[in-house]
Amino acid sequence: MVWSRRTFSALAGTTALGLTLSGSGGAFARASAPTGPAPDPPGADGTRHTVGFDKYSMLVDGSRVVLWSGEVHPFRLPSPSLWRDVLEKLRAHGYNTISVYVSWNYHSPAPGRYDFTGVRDLDLFLRTAAETGLYVILRPGPYINAEVDAGGFPGWLTATRGTARTSDPTYLSYVDEWLTAVNRIAVRHLYTHGGGTIVLYQLENEYANNVTSPRGRDYMAHLYAKVRADGIDVPLFHNDKGRNGYWAPGTFDTGGESGRYLYGFDGYPSPLAPPPDWGYYGVGGTKGGSTASPETPGLLAEFGGGWFDPWGGVEFDGKGYAESARTRDAAYERRFYLTNLANGIKVHNVYMTFGGTSWGWLPAPVVYTSYDYGAALDEARRPTPKLVPMHQLGQLLHSVPDLAKLDRAADIQVGAKGGASGEAAGITAYHLVNPDTEAHFHILRNDRADDVLAAVPLAGVDVPLPVPVPALDARLLATGLPLGRRTLRYSSAQPMLWLTAGRQDIAVFTGRKGEATRTAVECASKPTVTVLEGKADHAYTSGALRVDAELDGLTRVLVEGGGTDAPFLLLLADDETSVRLWRHDTPSGPVLAYGPALLRTAALRDTTVHLTGDTVEAADLEVWGPRGMSEVVWNQGRLKARATTSGSLRAERRLPGVPAVHLPALDNWRFHTENPESDAGFDDSAWKVADRTSSYSTTPVPAGQPVLFADDYGFHYGDVWYRGRFEEAGDAGAAESVSLSYVTGTQGLLMAWLDGKPLGAHRMPVPDKSTVRKGTWSATATFPVRYASGPHVLSVLVRRMQHDMDGAAKDTHKAARGLTAVTFAGASPAVTWRIQGEAAPDPVRGPLNHGGLYGERQGWHLPGFADGGWKAVDFPRASRGQGVAWYRTGFRLAIDPGVDASIGLTLTDDPARAYRVQIFLNGWNMGQYINDVGPQHTFVLPGGVLRTRGANTLALAVLSDGTTPAGPGEVRLTLMGSAAGGVPVTPVDSPGRAHAR
Ligand code: GAL
Repeated sequence: MVWSRRTFSALAGTTALGLTLSGSGGAFARASAPTGPAPDPPGADGTRHTVGFDKYSMLVDGSRVVLWSGEVHPFRLPSPSLWRDVLEKLRAHGYNTISVYVSWNYHSPAPGRYDFTGVRDLDLFLRTAAETGLYVILRPGPYINAEVDAGGFPGWLTATRGTARTSDPTYLSYVDEWLTAVNRIAVRHLYTHGGGTIVLYQLENEYANNVTSPRGRDYMAHLYAKVRADGIDVPLFHNDKGRNGYWAPGTFDTGGESGRYLYGFDGYPSPLAPPPDWGYYGVGGTKGGSTASPETPGLLAEFGGGWFDPWGGVEFDGKGYAESARTRDAAYERRFYLTNLANGIKVHNVYMTFGGTSWGWLPAPVVYTSYDYGAALDEARRPTPKLVPMHQLGQLLHSVPDLAKLDRAADIQVGAKGGASGEAAGITAYHLVNPDTEAHFHILRNDRADDVLAAVPLAGVDVPLPVPVPALDARLLATGLPLGRRTLRYSSAQPMLWLTAGRQDIAVFTGRKGEATRTAVECASKPTVTVLEGKADHAYTSGALRVDAELDGLTRVLVEGGGTDAPFLLLLADDETSVRLWRHDTPSGPVLAYGPALLRTAALRDTTVHLTGDTVEAADLEVWGPRGMSEVVWNQGRLKARATTSGSLRAERRLPGVPAVHLPALDNWRFHTENPESDAGFDDSAWKVADRTSSYSTTPVPAGQPVLFADDYGFHYGDVWYRGRFEEAGDAGAAESVSLSYVTGTQGLLMAWLDGKPLGAHRMPVPDKSTVRKGTWSATATFPVRYASGPHVLSVLVRRMQHDMDGAAKDTHKAARGLTAVTFAGASPAVTWRIQGEAAPDPVRGPLNHGGLYGERQGWHLPGFADGGWKAVDFPRASRGQGVAWYRTGFRLAIDPGVDASIGLTLTDDPARAYRVQIFLNGWNMGQYINDVGPQHTFVLPGGVLRTRGANTLALAVLSDGTTPAGPGEVRLTLMGSAAGGVPVTPVDSPGRAHAR
């Protein structure tokens, strides 16, 4: 028994309002909407589709759709199997779109070399998005910012001629290489051709500096033409940083093409001030956000759903990303995102929705390894309470396409219950109407720190409706909204979804637990009402059934008769309950499941509904679906189920929760020191001679010095070594000191040795709030020296951290990294420099995986390295000395394959100890721990890289500056979360030592 879309439409027919019901999603296509039904969850269906827009919204196959999007970066989750997990979670929680940066540096180890294999398999990622039913907004730069090294530019590009982010021909030739490579994949996944689900494509990123200059305008025109020439035929847009109207349609050359380019903008407002009106309600003329381009829909390409935290945790006072999530919590989301919807935003992308991990040398200097961002799905892929409003609003936008076409309607005067009206009530009220359907929406927002019980005059209510609007919160109310064969007159609870399942229509309304709600549904005559669960009062009055209920778990009210044959199930759910209600669209019609922590997929075959998903606690399972559905399968297991008075099937037994996960202690450590490069006798003859005299860097080459900048010698990531040889022939002992000038990103560090003896170390200062945005740091370290006549070697190790980003298009990514100048006081020896950075890029783990430490060059970080001869040690350690030491151990895990365990590595120690650790799991660089800076202590070890059933190798490269004893202190595995279910995880290829040099 399969219901086709056509059968459904025929059955559903046309409503009294002249609206055509259609779509297996139960969505509407309005009589006056352009053409065609509302789109199903999209997929790579092999058919052609149209992707267009008008001033209200995107139009997919002529139907309106609000793109409710979350930003996800595949390069921040180096385990392709887990992409599916993240995307399924987003889809289940109501997102219909993801926005995706593609980071050039991640894919290009060298000019002309582009790699889209393994963890870089963009094709697989886009396929997974299509299989999950998500639209894609693709953002391949070339510049992306995104708190990644050089804002996404490859290391090698920092050492090339020409000014980036302009029409400079050298730069453009590299850009074209990149776009050709990435577009070759993108073009296969365009929704227009049915090969995938890409519906929008972004050019550049927040390009605000050359807006009026020919080199900026030509650059944008070049990108436009190139992307079109590569076959990208979906609408293009740019994300204006400042709501200035920059790069709006008509402001640069789009090759004579019009109507296929949109204006977009970004917004990261402070959570401490009232949300800005960047659209219908804004002031400031046509440049105010969504009104800057009146003929294209409001497109918020990035809206802050969290924020990043710099080294030292200065953004959140050392409290880390938990504080980011607290300051932009679920109420923030309701307050800000509902304001956006009120302002005409119809493409709404939350940056970030899953932040992930800036592993290896990916992070820009400003951030540490975790890019959790305080996002709705945390770095360990666990749902947070921030998914609640996204879930509720996402389902609503899907069920109620009326929201895709809204005009501003007459302002209403909201009062406080029993008191003042308008502003005095402290409520900002937005009133919108769909001009075709006459559905009205009110968004009520409370920017004050105390709760308000608002009195809202609504169409159809005799006295203003009491509506609770808690402190710093918001809600959406609807009136005149069709709910299948019934119509909502009003409700003080927020509508979440409606669908038709079997004979009955079901509607869900939500709010905060404990709130009193009143809901009225039109009924031509008095219906029969049964309260199936919870407490509710009801009355039939003035042609409507009125239901009063306090929100507490799930309240179920069954309405029969009253002018319509079809039963109507009214579900009132508090927040916690609402995220256990899962709507899923199948070709046979929508399914609503209730109970488990996650519903990933639902499919109907014959009379059986097959569900997959996750549980954490034991959970009931109940399902509503098309008529004839009589059996339930959960994660491949058939369940005994019974029909209920709610019209659902309920499993007789609860689904089990997740079993306990036990993690082993980490012991059997082995230890080895390194830095032989500091020894006088080290053989550096294979190293490159640093003898260049000019550079394309923005850092001037100091007079009389060779170029020492690491990038000029092809070393772009991680640590770099220098060895300077000189002969002192003259007056031995005259030298007083040596001064080493160096440039790094935040947290840079330098250590020096003369003839094998430590001279000392120098660190860049830990930034405070005022310096935290500074990407590039320079300093001069001066060490006293004494040496006799004869040959000498000065060895210097620079942890240069990463390249600055280039947000202002000033080539800041080209600032030097490494040593810049070396001068002696009291002597002026002629020094010959040799330099050694990272070995050839790891062909599997990519160019950002390792730097130039001796151990990295020798493969000490890789599985299979023979460490049997290393010394056995126990933690905690407290050794003192300047240099590099490695620790290795192995551990086995045997986690039940039906369990998705999020596992992290936690390091803790006395915070006075000055050392840092590079963490390698099975050869993968999982991030950097700086013991005396922080704030990060737990590093996510993603399944796939982590063998959850099998053997793992952990290697820690410890750099200590010798000023304090150095750890590691305590090192342990941490269970960050677990669920029964998950997705099948394929181990990520983790070859042993083959590529080291
Ligand atoms: C935006 C930028 C993003 C990211 C974000 C902050 O301005 O476009 O790439 O850097 O800021 O996280």
